[in-house]
Amino acid sequence: MAIRNFTEANLTREVIRRLEGTPDPRLKQVMGKLVKHLHAFVRDANPTWEEWMAGIQFLTKSGQMCDDKRQEFILVSDTLGVSMLVDLLNYGRNRGATESTVLGPFFVEKAPEFPLGGNIARDLKGGELCVVTGSVASGGKRVPGALLEVWQAGADGFYDVQKNEGVHLRGRLRADAKGEFWFLCALPAHYPVPTDGPVGRMLKATGRHPMRPPHLHFIIQAPRYKKLVTHLFVKGGKYLESDAVFGVKESLVVDFKRVASQEHAAKYGVTAPFRKVHYDFVLVPERAAAVRKKPAKKRRSG
Ligand code: BEZ
Ligand code: FE
Repeated sequence: MAIRNFTEANLTREVIRRLEGTPDPRLKQVMGKLVKHLHAFVRDANPTWEEWMAGIQFLTKSGQMCDDKRQEFILVSDTLGVSMLVDLLNYGRNRGATESTVLGPFFVEKAPEFPLGGNIARDLKGGELCVVTGSVASGGKRVPGALLEVWQAGADGFYDVQKNEGVHLRGRLRADAKGEFWFLCALPAHYPVPTDGPVGRMLKATGRHPMRPPHLHFIIQAPRYKKLVTHLFVKGGKYLESDAVFGVKESLVVDFKRVASQEHAAKYGVTAPFRKVHYDFVLVPERAAAVRKKPAKKRRSG
């Protein structure tokens, strides 16, 4: 018989028991764990009603902040390290592949297409021109025609979607038949994650800065390979040690070299001085990536 008088000792068990009829076994499992850990959190933190309502208000305001251009919940997940934890659990074992990192809230589907050598920076906004070259391969073999989606903030620290300036500093390109690509962009600058919402208030209240180190975003995909979501970080850039969203991985920090040679510049149809970065991306076949790491039985947190 179901319990009617709930106590601190039996309430959690009863909530989990009521999930027993969930037809989807994975949903049942995940919901059970959510209830178990959420109740454990409340027992541990022991909030007053006012504190609990402040938490609910934080979530409410986060939802109200979201629209097709702003995703405050991704920011919550990113700034609390949850996005990187999901990333590490899912992709941490793709040995030999390029490491992944956070998607962030500024990716836009169907950005304009550029030919190889195209320039995604309509306006450098006082920044430096940058030539990006590289290749896409897997298991030692090049991946011809891989699709690359790239996006970045301008020298002023804003993405196009944060300003009403139309599509800018983002594009889609295809690697050539040898799996090679090259394009022009602006040298990425460091910038703050949006701070005009609940996440900004949370960062301030906890004494944290909102800055991300300079980086260029990539999504790389090709049929039968796992989609790679990653960044290239500018070596020597600010905030590499204290990224507000914990996204930095050493293997993704690369030299955006200063080039002064006009001869070198002519190769890319630009004028010196400019910056140049090269990166050889490695994808994993879809099947190899499907082997998901099993969560450890007992893991100590913290
Ligand atoms: C970004 O790099 O675009 C980003 C990632 C996480 C939170 C905010 C911005
Ligand atoms: Fe970014």
